Amino acid sequence: FSRVINAGKSTHNEDQASCEVLTVKKKAGAIISTPNRNSSKRRSSLPNGEGLQLKENSESEGVSCHYWSLFDGHAGSGAAVVASRLLQHHITEQLQDIVEILKNSAVLPPTCLGEEPENTPANSRTLTRAASLRGGVGAPGSPSTPPTRFFTEKKIPHECLVIGALESAFKEMDLQIEQERNAYNISGGCTALVVICLLGKLYVANAGDSRAIIIRSGEIIPMSSEFTPETERQRLQYLAFMQPHLLGNEFTHLEFPRRVQRKELGKKMLYRDFNMTGWAYKTIEDDDLKFPLIYGEGKKARVMATIGVTRGLGDHDLKVHDSNIYIKPFLSSAPEVRVYDLSKYEHGADDVLILATDGLWDVLSNEEVAEAITQFLPNCDPDDPHRYTLAAQDLVMRARGVLKDRGWRISNDRLGSGDDISVYVIPLIHGNKLS
Ligand SMILES: *[C@@H]1O[C@H](CO)[C@@H](O)[C@H](O)[C@H]1NC(C)=O
Ligand SMILES: *[C@@H]1O[C@H](CO)[C@@H](O)[C@H](O)[C@H]1NC(C)=O
Ligand SMILES: *[C@@H]1O[C@H](CO)[C@@H](O)[C@H](O)[C@H]1NC(C)=O
Repeated sequence: FSRVINAGKSTHNEDQASCEVLTVKKKAGAIISTPNRNSSKRRSSLPNGEGLQLKENSESEGVSCHYWSLFDGHAGSGAAVVASRLLQHHITEQLQDIVEILKNSAVLPPTCLGEEPENTPANSRTLTRAASLRGGVGAPGSPSTPPTRFFTEKKIPHECLVIGALESAFKEMDLQIEQERNAYNISGGCTALVVICLLGKLYVANAGDSRAIIIRSGEIIPMSSEFTPETERQRLQYLAFMQPHLLGNEFTHLEFPRRVQRKELGKKMLYRDFNMTGWAYKTIEDDDLKFPLIYGEGKKARVMATIGVTRGLGDHDLKVHDSNIYIKPFLSSAPEVRVYDLSKYEHGADDVLILATDGLWDVLSNEEVAEAITQFLPNCDPDDPHRYTLAAQDLVMRARGVLKDRGWRISNDRLGSGDDISVYVIPLIHGNKLS
C-alpha cells in the first residue's frame, strides 16, 4: 500500500484506507432460517432454541476473511474516516448471519449471475413458473391450498449471499453515518472500494469512482466500474422523472448537448430522456430552459451542478449551492460487487490486484499501470517482503510525476495528478497473503 497526499503538494488528506483480517463466527444465539436445507427435519430433531444453540456452538469455528478498503472523501474527511474505521464491522456482522451456510459445502450453482441452474430441464422450469403464477394470483375466496410446487425454494449460491452481505453492510454504514453525523460531527461524503477474500474468492465491492483491476500474466481483468453522473445518467434521470419535486423546480431531468437559451423556445433541439441511449429532436418548451440535472463532460460532469460522483457514503447534508435542494436522494450507497475465483487460475508472484483512487486513474490508463507493474515486479528480489509496497510507491510516483519548470509532469510531458493518490498492490499468490 502506498499513498501521497494531494500528490505531495499539500498535507490535507481526504483519502482513507484500512486493511485487516476479520474473523467471522456465528453469533451465539442467532437462529437463522437456512435456505436450501430441509428445515422441517432440523426442527423435529431439535425442538427448542437451546438445543439448537448448543449444537451449533460446538460446530462453529470462525472463518477468516482478509479485508482491504479505500475511501476517497469530499467536502471534508469525516465520512471517509468513519467508514475506514467501521465498515469492516458492518461486513463482519452481515457475514455472521451466513457463515454456517458458507461452511456447509452443499452442491449449488457456483456463481451468482442471476440465472437459473443450467441443468434444470426447460419443462420443469416452465412448470414451476406456471405453478407460481397460479399460486400468486389465487382469487379471493378460492380454496387456500396452492400446489405444493409453489413452495419450492430458489437455490441461492453461496456467492450471492456474500454479495448480499456486502450490499447490506454498505447500506448499514450509510445509515449509521446519517444517524450519528450530528452527534459526532461527521462531515462530507466518500467513495468506497472494498475487497474481501473469503473461502478462496475475492469479492470487490465498489461504490464511487475508485477502480480495481487484476493483472494476471500481464493481462488486465477489470474488477469494478465507475459510478459518475455520466455512467448513471439514466438512473438519475428516471428518479427525477418519477419524483420531480426532488429537482426543486430549478432543474430539468432532460439532457441537451448544451444549455438551452430563451431565444430558442419553440425551436427544435437534440435531447435525451431516461429511456434513451441515443439523441432525438424535441421542440423547446419553458421547462427545458431550467438547468440540466446532469451537466458537464468527463471529470467535469456534475449532478445538479454539485457533485461528480454518484455512489458512496455520507453526503446527507449536501445541498445545491444557495438552495434547499438535497443531493442525497440521487446518490446511492449500493456497491457493484464482482467476484473472482482464485482457485480457477494459477497465479505467479507477479499477479496482483490493484486498488486505487481516481488520483491514479485520472492520469494513468489500465494499460500503463499494467505495463508499469509487469516491468517493476520482475526486477524486485522475489524474497523481498516489501516488493508489492515498492510497486505501489512506483505507481504513485508515476502518477504524481516530477517537478519540472512550472509544474508536475509525468511521462510524455503530460500533467501529473493533483489529487490525493492511494494505491494498493495485493499479490494473488497463496490466495490472500497480506502486503
Ligand atoms: C423434509 O424432510 C421430511 C422428513 O424427513 C420429509 O418428509 C420431506 O419430504 C422433506 N422435504 C423436502 C422438500 O425434502
Ligand atoms: C465540525 O466539522 C467541521 C468540518 O470538519 C468543522 O469546521 C467544525 O468546526 C466542526 N464542529 C464542531 C462542533 O466540532
Ligand atoms: C420515455 O418515457 C416518457 C415518459 O413515459 C415517454 O413520454 C416517452 O415517449 C418515452 N420515450 C421513448 C423514446 O420511448
